Amino acid sequence: MPNDFLSFFLSWMSSPRQVGAIAPSGAALADLITREITEKTGPILELGPGTGAFTYKLLKRGVRQQDLTLIEYGSDFMKLLQMRFPGARVLWMDAARLATERLYDGAPVGAVVSGLPLLNMSTRKVISIVSGAFSYVRPGGAFYQFTYGMSCPIPRPVLDRLGLRATLVDRAFLNVPPAAVYKLTRRPQMTLIAGSLAQQASTPAAAQADC
Ligand SMILES: C[S@@+](CC[C@H](N)C(=O)[O-])C[C@H]1O[C@@H](n2cnc3c(N)ncnc32)[C@H](O)[C@@H]1O
Repeated sequence: MPNDFLSFFLSWMSSPRQVGAIAPSGAALADLITREITEKTGPILELGPGTGAFTYKLLKRGVRQQDLTLIEYGSDFMKLLQMRFPGARVLWMDAARLATERLYDGAPVGAVVSGLPLLNMSTRKVISIVSGAFSYVRPGGAFYQFTYGMSCPIPRPVLDRLGLRATLVDRAFLNVPPAAVYKLTRRPQMTLIAGSLAQQASTPAAAQADC
């Protein structure tokens, strides 16, 4: 993994809110956010890959470049990603447009890995991004998001509205600054069985939510 500190820092100087960090994520955070992903996860959508700190880790976990779609808004980052990951699909676009672009036929994605600075975005934009990403996620798939904040960066009313739950995967104290990773999944559906309302999972969804 090359040392990208200077180029990342310069990008942050020109667009601090969009880049959202002064340095690329470190190994501990890259390890944590990709921890549950293997070569069997299938297509992966990465949002805000920057210089590719998580992308390199995904490849180390056995994910094939052909299974990667990288969505990056910064043009310099986008060009760098195209050079570094020639087998991946690298798209220069705003992740808020996920729902309006048809990125896949159906919903094959096993995992979304997001480095987007959601805390710098409006609630409306966060809703577009998360709902757009989930429109491509297959049943049982997950959306992994990191944050430097103390709680999940997707507000509880947004999770409720989108029918999602968030659980803390863990914290990466060795990252600078320390960060946490949250996993978003769909809440179990309520099913009408012989006139009674039964939930597919035994634990109530609200009790499982971390934020
Ligand atoms: C905090 S950096 C994370 C970079 C990398 N994932 C890492 O952890 O080192 C946020 C990244 O999200 C990108 N980004 C910000 N807003 C975006 C948007 N609306 N759509 C796509 N990418 C965006 C930035 O250009 C930047 O590369």
